[in-house]
Amino acid sequence: MSENFEDVVRAVYEHGVRHDAGQVDRLRRRRNLEPDAAALLSLICQAMGAVRVLEIGTSNGCSTLWLAQAVHDRNGTVLSVDLDADAQRAATTNLARVGLQQHVELRCADGGQVLKDLPDASQDIVLLDSERPEYAGWRPHPVRVLRTGGLLVIDNVLSHADEVADVRALIDADPQLTTAVSPTGKGQLLAIKRPSPGTPRR
Ligand SMILES: C[S@@+](CC[C@H](N)C(=O)[O-])C[C@H]1O[C@@H](n2cnc3c(N)ncnc32)[C@H](O)[C@@H]1O
Repeated sequence: MSENFEDVVRAVYEHGVRHDAGQVDRLRRRRNLEPDAAALLSLICQAMGAVRVLEIGTSNGCSTLWLAQAVHDRNGTVLSVDLDADAQRAATTNLARVGLQQHVELRCADGGQVLKDLPDASQDIVLLDSERPEYAGWRPHPVRVLRTGGLLVIDNVLSHADEVADVRALIDADPQLTTAVSPTGKGQLLAIKRPSPGTPRR
């Protein structure tokens, strides 16, 4: 019997906040997406009719829960990647609590490598929420793997503007992308992949 989704995401987030308060090593913190940012991302995901979502940075699965809930009505799948197997074990438990585990593939791997191996235009949404200074070096894959009309989301663009300056400069210079920044949570960059010039409209 599954638990109530709202109760579980709230409990997972609050547990993460308590865990992080007592954890001096930043890399061992949960660092979950804030609830307002996660709720907005879930809403956008549903509005887009997303069925293939890639998340880099699972942690204990708080954002993964929101994404899985967002794709579940369309039988979609979230591929969520993290280097931390312990954190992904916690994510497995949290997803099972709400019965969403069949909508998520948890992969213990390097996000940059997973992006590199994915086919062109294979994802509706790509969420980057891992070690920010790595993102610029992952180019062109976060955009290459998006379908036309797909959405790239980068968290922490307001809280850690210096760490994402390189990737933001690349995104701003990319004629395929239309961007906006949402001030929810710690700030998310939202970038939509436009059709290439000359692509016939349907
Ligand atoms: C900010 S936390 C993710 C929080 C999660 N998205 C949430 O909101 O619940 C960042 C995670 O990225 C993972 N990470 C760091 N570098 C990575 C990499 N190169 N590939 C995959 N995961 C990575 C860390 O182990 C950590 O669990």
